[in-house]
Amino acid sequence: MKKFFKWVGIVIGSLLGLLVLVFLGLAMKGNSMLKKTYDVQVETIPIPTDAEAIARGEHWVKAECIGCHGDNLSGGSFFEAPFATINAKNLTSGKGGAGTEFADADWIRALRHGVSPESHSLLIMPSHTFRFFSDADLGDIIAYLKSAPPVDNETSEPSFNILGKAMLGAGLFGDAVVVAEKIINDEVSDPSYPPAGVTPEYGQYLVNVSGCQDCHGVDLSGGKSADPSAINAPNLTSGGELIAWKEDDFIKAIRTGLTPTNRQLDPAQMPWEHFKYFSDDELKAIWAYLDSLPRLETTIP
Ligand code: HEC
Ligand code: HEC
Repeated sequence: MKKFFKWVGIVIGSLLGLLVLVFLGLAMKGNSMLKKTYDVQVETIPIPTDAEAIARGEHWVKAECIGCHGDNLSGGSFFEAPFATINAKNLTSGKGGAGTEFADADWIRALRHGVSPESHSLLIMPSHTFRFFSDADLGDIIAYLKSAPPVDNETSEPSFNILGKAMLGAGLFGDAVVVAEKIINDEVSDPSYPPAGVTPEYGQYLVNVSGCQDCHGVDLSGGKSADPSAINAPNLTSGGELIAWKEDDFIKAIRTGLTPTNRQLDPAQMPWEHFKYFSDDELKAIWAYLDSLPRLETTIP
């Protein structure tokens, strides 16, 4: 009997030891993901300085950036947990803001490649969708960022403790967290830049830069964001509820969060509170694109 217990003890002890090793291995993997440097070729894009370009850039920034970086772009806490904290950065030229130190190449590297001036991957920042912006649109966005009113706010670098690093190493946060890595690994066809207008082609461009697929699935038939607290994102093809929607219903849903059945879309799950800044024509283009999609069965993630 005594011998039996001794063996049970050895087996349990070895298993626990193994678990500790696996945990440490994952934490080391997570640590090296955070430390990895990315040497990217930064393209030269002309950054305009005229008032019209700056106004177009402001429009994009409202529709695409303020949900995370704040109405005045001063950033702040984005993800707070006992194992990790991530701040959305202050983008202005106030104290602690990227605008005080970023050269044009730094803006382009961050927005197109998801890489910081120190060559690390940005975390969570959706550069894997912003890389689809045309040079002209990206130039307008950067033109606005460079002229945005300065706000003082010291934001901090992401920090992960050993548990957070192990979770990162285990892939629990999905593949879009270390965005530079995702950009390298994604297989995407060459982006196209249709002229702005109420066309399905321009609607597809807006969908690509806005990351609708991140949550609604690559073919928009339903999906889920990588955020562990996310709920399922519905089918946006005519295989889902949108079969009963008209263009006006779609515009109203994005502007107010209210669907035709008077269901309120949760802005923490579906970021309509910044997409609402799209113009009528832009929303009509997105609708034209959704309307042109083949009818697909709902994918339940
Ligand atoms: C889903 C949330 C989210 C959205 C939307 C978003 N960002 Fe970010 N962004 C972040 C987070 C989080 C960081 C900090 C990443 C880090 O520190 O690793 C960041 C970092 C950045 C940086 C790097 C700043 C620095 O000091 O290193 C730039 C530049 C930036 N964002 C610009 C933009 C612009 C421009 C838009 C809109 C076109 C935008 N972001 C939209 C979350 C977001
Ligand atoms: C961060 C994840 C996320 C992104 C990005 C996102 N959505 Fe959503 N969307 C959701 C979720 C989750 C719901 C369901 C919300 C609810 O029921 O409260 C939703 C709901 C919707 C609905 C209502 C559909 C229905 O059947 O009720 C429409 C329309 C929609 N999204 C369109 C879009 C479009 C267009 C884009 C891109 C411009 C987009 N979404 C980007 C997560 C997202």
